[in-house]
Amino acid sequence: MNAQLISLKTIHAPLEGSLSFFESQKDIPFNVRRIYYIYDVPMGVRRGMHAHKALQQFLWCAWGKVDIILDSGREVQQYCLDSPQKGLLVGEGIWREMVWQKEGSVLCVAASEHYDEGDYIRDYRTFVSYVEKGYWDETDK
Ligand code: TYD
Repeated sequence: MNAQLISLKTIHAPLEGSLSFFESQKDIPFNVRRIYYIYDVPMGVRRGMHAHKALQQFLWCAWGKVDIILDSGREVQQYCLDSPQKGLLVGEGIWREMVWQKEGSVLCVAASEHYDEGDYIRDYRTFVSYVEKGYWDETDK
């Protein structure tokens, strides 16, 4: 699976709270070109349902709880982002679904490229045909 759960570096101050951070090319393997965040999502709502041809992303839940279901076309793995210290690297060629498990959850995403609708694969059968043709075989981990 071209994905990895990461423990974010965190500074805890007993009376002042915590600070978590990550840096391009140090903690995540790409330069960040875009950041977006998803919020005001009712509990139980499922978003995503797409894959990316080339985009790499790093996801973290700044507050709340969001389940991330990843599908490489060969295996499915589920991750739970329920702490601001957890981050999930999602490489290219992974079908993803995000399920809001807590009201008010904020899902943040750092992305390797600017927005490009042409990089999306929004049809699952098309995604499977890319996998079967070996489109991501060199980058598949
Ligand atoms: P989408 O990536 O499909 O969101 P999700 O996977 O969470 O359901 O994006 C939703 C809409 O927002 C879609 O019309 C594309 C648009 N969008 C942008 O214009 N710029 C962006 O950076 C992103 C991530 C989405």
